[in-house]
Amino acid sequence: MPADHLASLLAAATQRLKAAGSDTPTLDARLLLQAAAGLTREDLILGPDRPLSPEQLATFESFVARRERHEPVSRILGRREFYGRVFTVTPATLDPRPDTETIIEAALKVMPKAARLLDLGTGTGAIAITLLAERPGATGTATDLSPDALAVARENAARLGVADRLSLVEGSWFAPVSGVFDIILSNPPYIPAGEIAGLSPDVRNFDPGLALSGGTDGLDPYRIIASGAAAYLAAGGHLLVEIGAGQVPDVEAIFDAQGFAAGGRHRDLGGHIRCLGFNRVQK
Ligand SMILES: C[S@@+](CC[C@H](N)C(=O)[O-])C[C@H]1O[C@@H](n2cnc3c(N)ncnc32)[C@H](O)[C@@H]1O
Repeated sequence: MPADHLASLLAAATQRLKAAGSDTPTLDARLLLQAAAGLTREDLILGPDRPLSPEQLATFESFVARRERHEPVSRILGRREFYGRVFTVTPATLDPRPDTETIIEAALKVMPKAARLLDLGTGTGAIAITLLAERPGATGTATDLSPDALAVARENAARLGVADRLSLVEGSWFAPVSGVFDIILSNPPYIPAGEIAGLSPDVRNFDPGLALSGGTDGLDPYRIIASGAAAYLAAGGHLLVEIGAGQVPDVEAIFDAQGFAAGGRHRDLGGHIRCLGFNRVQK
């Protein structure tokens, strides 16, 4: 089979990505080939001997070379599917992770239909936009310190049809926020600063530092959120935060010290506790 036909290209790229250390070389190669050639998965199956144009070949080669340098497929393509919807991803935003769908599932169980939600550190807007799309009667506010991330969230909100129910505000945690909310959510940066250099290159070199570092022990954002939340949470309201590995006791202690009652531990698909819920203790 000629070397520029789909099946040969796919096999060669898979080998290159495997050698470069990708955990999912076959999937990566297929997604990059589909995007470079504008083809569906069915096209690849039904026409494996179809040739690519020189332009498509050049695009595919550049995609594979970027993936060999550990750039995630979602960043090469500029988009990521999250909870069944496609989000634009840029260098200013965290690449939303499947694990973060845990906080979505937890929120949907407790959110009233017409919930007012607050998403702190929204990045692409993955959490706030997904919840607004799932709950057409809900409204929300989402914050980020990064104006570039907020621009991406704005674009995602418009494309996914929730822009008229989402207020996007720039600033640090609660600083730009006004109002009272039925549910406060955050997937804050939670990696201890000293551990960032040891992360995989796919993360370290491509997710923005602002989205990763949670200060010396990784817990600074939880301290800020816990100390500020009571002023913004309605009576009987819920607070949900994503956490990193091993952070359950520390994060629960931080919220307990601010008068919140533990309101649930939620596991991701890998079985790890990924999200903690808290309730405002009634006075
Ligand atoms: C781990 S990312 C989460 C992004 C998105 N919520 C998600 O789950 O995909 C953390 C986000 O917090 C933002 N951030 C960092 N420091 C912040 C601060 N002081 N105030 C508000 N947002 C902040 C980052 O820019 C980043 O978008």
